[in-house]
Amino acid sequence: MLKIGIDKIGFYAPHLYVDMTKLADSRNVDPDKFTIGIGQEKMAVPPVTQDAVTLAANAAVDILDDNDKEAIDFVIFGTETGVDSSKSAAVYVHELLGLNPYARAIEVKQACYGATAGIQMAKGHIAMNPDSKVLVLGSDIARYGLSTSGEATQGAGAVALLISAEPHIMALEDESVYFTTDVMDFWRPVYSDKAFADGKLSNEQYIAFFTRIWEQYKAKTGMELSDFVAICYHLPYTKMGYKALKNVLEEGTEDVQERLLANYKLSTDYNRNVGNIYTGSLYLSLLSLLEQTEELKPGARIGMFSYGSGAVGEFFTGILQPNFQDYLNIDRHHGLFASRSEVTVPEYEAIFEEALPTDGSTVELDIDNDPAKICLAGIADDKRQYVNKVSRVAY
Ligand code: CAA
Repeated sequence: MLKIGIDKIGFYAPHLYVDMTKLADSRNVDPDKFTIGIGQEKMAVPPVTQDAVTLAANAAVDILDDNDKEAIDFVIFGTETGVDSSKSAAVYVHELLGLNPYARAIEVKQACYGATAGIQMAKGHIAMNPDSKVLVLGSDIARYGLSTSGEATQGAGAVALLISAEPHIMALEDESVYFTTDVMDFWRPVYSDKAFADGKLSNEQYIAFFTRIWEQYKAKTGMELSDFVAICYHLPYTKMGYKALKNVLEEGTEDVQERLLANYKLSTDYNRNVGNIYTGSLYLSLLSLLEQTEELKPGARIGMFSYGSGAVGEFFTGILQPNFQDYLNIDRHHGLFASRSEVTVPEYEAIFEEALPTDGSTVELDIDNDPAKICLAGIADDKRQYVNKVSRVAY
């Protein structure tokens, strides 16, 4: 049977971050609330030269070789912080990366669930077209506002997933359980550049969705906790997945509990240092797990819980492939974390408030201060101007 799954994973976060202890101090909050209660250490701060398009393009640019660029005939861009109500962010990325023009390019929206929907769509596409590859992107900038209760759960970044037949990293299994119900736990009306959240309700719904879907998954498949080496979660903040896991942990023996908790910890490390990246969060968590342990063995089954407020949830699974470690980009990703610069809280506040014009005026941005390969260089004639500094694609 044809295996379909994740062949490559790329990740990008902006080069600036704010320290959560210092943010807590400036908000007169006990730092333990942010670092332990919420579980975040550093929060990525996107400069005005980065948006959902550039973050995604930067996540993908280093993982694709010429064969991939030729074989990709579908770009699916999951985001809830896109830049245009009509044109998909996927079209911009398709151009910036120089992909095969005989391709589909679309944007998918359902809060943080968009990239998961993209992966499932990609799976169907590859089942029909085994020689093609699909680029699935999850890219977002999480904004709640300065001094709001959501502030500590902001972040920015993107994950790029190359989905193919006979994948090198993780083969997706066919059984999955998905669930939808209308709930106003988190939303962003079109007139607002900041999300609204009913924090308590969103936490409750996340746990309720996981518990309900997990029960249905077990009933459908006969699987149990012991069948999993790890479970990765959508992580709006790193304590959130733990709350959901804790709810079902007692179903396992002591050994199983220990294993799942240890792997959960590894799966939260990148997210703890980036913040919420919405659509990409679950896949950043998977990357964090895969890139931080040599204990995981090919054949290991990993559970994946995706949650997009509003709300849609899904639990699906994957099997690690032989020599999957050889296809990761550990040095590049560790280098990305190591090369970031800290900004002070006032600097973060100034960057947060820096907005692009919405009245049609022209703006030119200084992209020399942004080390990213792909940047937003400005707006002219109501058109965003993107630059790939390496290939010199500019438009
Ligand atoms: N030391 C240690 N822990 C402390 C502490 C201290 N001094 N002070 C407080 N805490 C703990 C609290 O006990 C609490 O822990 P538990 O949740 O385990 O009880 C934790 O810190 C947070 O405290 P509060 O609940 O009082 O925090 P808050 O009300 O100020 O805000 C939040 C927390 C609701 C997550 C808020 O940041 C928020 O609304 N964020 C945006 C919405 C969100 O992320 N929801 C998550 C589910 S929705 C989803 O997953 C989709 C998505 O991506 C948005």
